[in-house]
Amino acid sequence: MTANDSQKPVTKAVIPAAGLGTRFLPATKASPKEMLPVVDRPAIQYVVQEAVSAGLDDILMITGRSKRALEDHFDRIPDLEASLKEQGKDALLESVQQATALGELHYLRQGDPKGLGHAVLRAKTHVGDNPFAVLLGDDLIDEKEDLLERMITAQEATGGSVVALMEVPQEQISAYGCAAVEAVEGEEYVKVTGMVEKPKPEEAPSNLAIIGRYVLHPHVFDVLENTPPGRGDEIQLTDALETLGQGSGEGEGVYGVVFNGRRFDTGDKLSYLKANVILAAERDDLGPGLRSWLKEFVQTLPEG
Ligand code: G1P
Repeated sequence: MTANDSQKPVTKAVIPAAGLGTRFLPATKASPKEMLPVVDRPAIQYVVQEAVSAGLDDILMITGRSKRALEDHFDRIPDLEASLKEQGKDALLESVQQATALGELHYLRQGDPKGLGHAVLRAKTHVGDNPFAVLLGDDLIDEKEDLLERMITAQEATGGSVVALMEVPQEQISAYGCAAVEAVEGEEYVKVTGMVEKPKPEEAPSNLAIIGRYVLHPHVFDVLENTPPGRGDEIQLTDALETLGQGSGEGEGVYGVVFNGRRFDTGDKLSYLKANVILAAERDDLGPGLRSWLKEFVQTLPEG
């Protein structure tokens, strides 16, 4: 399929952020998991920054109860800014202003916690009749990567919907949506021929996991409206995409961009800790001290 004249540019991003963060209790008892810091920025700021860097500066966050800190974080605090300025703390002032200078943020509550597909469907009115990106907050993609840009290009070329895929060890596939694909001659993207949400490793059609980046045709909303609850009794985005992928009409068809760059899963405690260490070790300010301490520290570690 090739894009036709009705192809509209991708300018909006949707960030589902209504999840409860139970894996990080008790840290997430009273504050959103998206606010957990990765080095010194909340995880959500990396995701918003990624969308803005890809040219998507209209961002809708789907939130829920106890998520007010997200709105506060991206809001200005004139008193704090004035006081930092007065004290000459320019670097801190700049870091505070960084979060508030990012795109145009909108917030909508999910209401019923009926799953990722339902959260995305809540964006229908805001998104309208345009292709749009979905970024899941648990996945951090290294800022040096251009995954989202590549996905937008693939969406524009195909006129369909695009998922990000990453090879994972077979035993980990049951934590993800999984896609069967076939090559498209001469193209960097692949055609997705089937998708299944969190299959058992022995039943998975491949070891390609759907990671948390999507660029979707608005036709997905019509499909989501008719998608019954699936795995975990939740409305699954993967199920809607599976339906969308079976069609060949306008706005149908699902494609994949295979990613093999750096991704951090901050929804998992061990990966979250690794993300903090890796990213801090690369920083100019923290890196030298952390790296030399780490070298000494590993010497003291017991075997196994
Ligand atoms: C969601 C999706 C799943 C996808 C994953 C990526 O699952 O349902 O298809 O592979 O995000 O992180 P969750 O991690 O929210 O359970």
